[in-house]
Amino acid sequence: MCGIVGYIGSKEKKSVIIGGLKELEYRGYDSAGMAIMSGECCSDIHYFKAVGKLENLSNKMSDFSSEGFGVAIGHTRWATHGKPTEINAHPHLGEYSFVIHNGIIENYKELKDELESQGVKFISQTDTEVIVHLFERYNKTAKSPFEAYKQTIARLRGAYATLLITKAAYGEVFFAKNAAPLIVAKNGDEIYFSSSDASLIGLGKEAMYLEDGVIGHAKLGAIEIFDKNLKALQLSFTELPKDKGYAQKDGYRFFMEKEIYEQSQVISECLMGRVKDDNVNLEVSDDVFDGIDEVVLCACGTSYHAAITASYLFERIAKIRAKVEIASEFRYKEPLLKPNSLFIVISQSGETADTLEALKIAKEHGLKTMAICNVDNSSIVRLAGEVMLTRAGIEKGVASTKAFATQVICLWLLSLKLAKLRNVIDEKTMLNELKALRNIPSVVHFDPKLQERIYRLAKHYLHGHGFFFIGRDIFYPLALEGALKLKEISYLHAEGYPAGEMKHGPIALADDGLYTIALLPSTLLYEKTKSNVEELAARDANITAISPVAFELSDDFIQTNTYEHPMSEFFEMMIVLQLFALEISIRLGNDVDMPRNLAKSVTVE
Ligand code: F6R
Repeated sequence: MCGIVGYIGSKEKKSVIIGGLKELEYRGYDSAGMAIMSGECCSDIHYFKAVGKLENLSNKMSDFSSEGFGVAIGHTRWATHGKPTEINAHPHLGEYSFVIHNGIIENYKELKDELESQGVKFISQTDTEVIVHLFERYNKTAKSPFEAYKQTIARLRGAYATLLITKAAYGEVFFAKNAAPLIVAKNGDEIYFSSSDASLIGLGKEAMYLEDGVIGHAKLGAIEIFDKNLKALQLSFTELPKDKGYAQKDGYRFFMEKEIYEQSQVISECLMGRVKDDNVNLEVSDDVFDGIDEVVLCACGTSYHAAITASYLFERIAKIRAKVEIASEFRYKEPLLKPNSLFIVISQSGETADTLEALKIAKEHGLKTMAICNVDNSSIVRLAGEVMLTRAGIEKGVASTKAFATQVICLWLLSLKLAKLRNVIDEKTMLNELKALRNIPSVVHFDPKLQERIYRLAKHYLHGHGFFFIGRDIFYPLALEGALKLKEISYLHAEGYPAGEMKHGPIALADDGLYTIALLPSTLLYEKTKSNVEELAARDANITAISPVAFELSDDFIQTNTYEHPMSEFFEMMIVLQLFALEISIRLGNDVDMPRNLAKSVTVE
């Protein structure tokens, strides 16, 4: 999704902005641009835009330098209104002002009609352009440019994180935020802006995560921020981490590959302090579980697959009804919510618009809420009643891997906590669960020979007309996740199915051009799943069996280890599926970390 960076200071502004936008690249974008106000005189604002990668923008600016004091704003755009063209790339310009924006202005059409009827000419098809024209119109009569900016923002409906610079206020940045992330950071007198702290690390010393509805302006060494009633707010900064190195690739070819290997370490971190004295010890207050007779799990994409996995765990271990909702469907279905439900949202980024909205709805209905999230200070974390952080560290690959693993761990821990509070788990079972949990970091610590084997098999799968990933019970959401990973980074058609559902329709597709990736754990419904796979083999589908038990009908076989606990098998098979998608994508020559059309943080609905 779009990224925003801004800077006030004397560093070379082009490099600060490109460097900052590079850190946001993993979120996905299709064009980029920046505007720089520098030099002695306020008449100097230069702007540049380019379609495609940041490199194209850099190349366009190769002869430009911006030494000395100045102000700059930069943006990576992921098209929502209007095609990914140079004209539609940000910044958008008026006669003397420039604006960048993340989010969607819902009433832009009405504002555009109004401005056009007053003779304003629009050059882009974006919703963003209304901001700069509204500003310049109000600035004709307002007491000051910032007053004009306040009047502008008051007219906007929808989601926005926006920065505006204008020759009418030399050296200043005007900013506003609603339902899209925006952070302001400082280092001495220098001021930075960004839509994510990833681009601020190493630049700013401390940061303020802005709340919805705020508006403000900043110049060298001075920031003023107002709440939605235009009451001045106390500035409250927190220290930013200093180490940029942690987000680099560490010798792996792709961030996704590094993140697959990191899973053992991040799961250990996720468990740290949470399993103590043969008990689950969570940071969430026990009160949140009081009187609860249902858990509603709500999320999108991979996080939704973690939710489905958890629904099995909650029902089986904690003996509590668990319902799963896709956040993008939840918003408009007029959901019937029960006061005794605990509403749990799951999100890597903490900024997914649909999940955030679902959380707001649950809160409005007075439900107890909880977030399982990877990004501290994100919008979802700030809104949820209780929070469990997944502690996976920055996830840069667009295709989620370590975030999923840690989400499932957190949800497993929660189900155990709830089982204990509800008195439905005996000591022996609890000890067995905890033993299995503690062992997961070694389960996902895989031998590189596994990757080598999958790399060799991957060449079999570059053609054909599709993939079915099948499994039962918790291996069904894992099958969904395996299929999503493959789709995302290899662009091959793949579907996840409960193995028992194949004969209700999908088996009609079975032939020698169809690949079936069968999850055959030995600890859960082995015989049942095996019969489903045999039905496919009988119709000449290509079978890849992932199992600790040799499967004579398989065309390819990936042998996993034997465990006693289904969750151990779950996590090992998760690794196999992640590597499977990775190696196929690499063989196809795709951009593994930044697959086409996708964004890391989906901040629009
Ligand atoms: C898949 C993927 C997406 C996200 C989804 C939700 O690899 O990354 O499907 O899982 O967009 O994002 P979060 O978890 O940030 O709410």
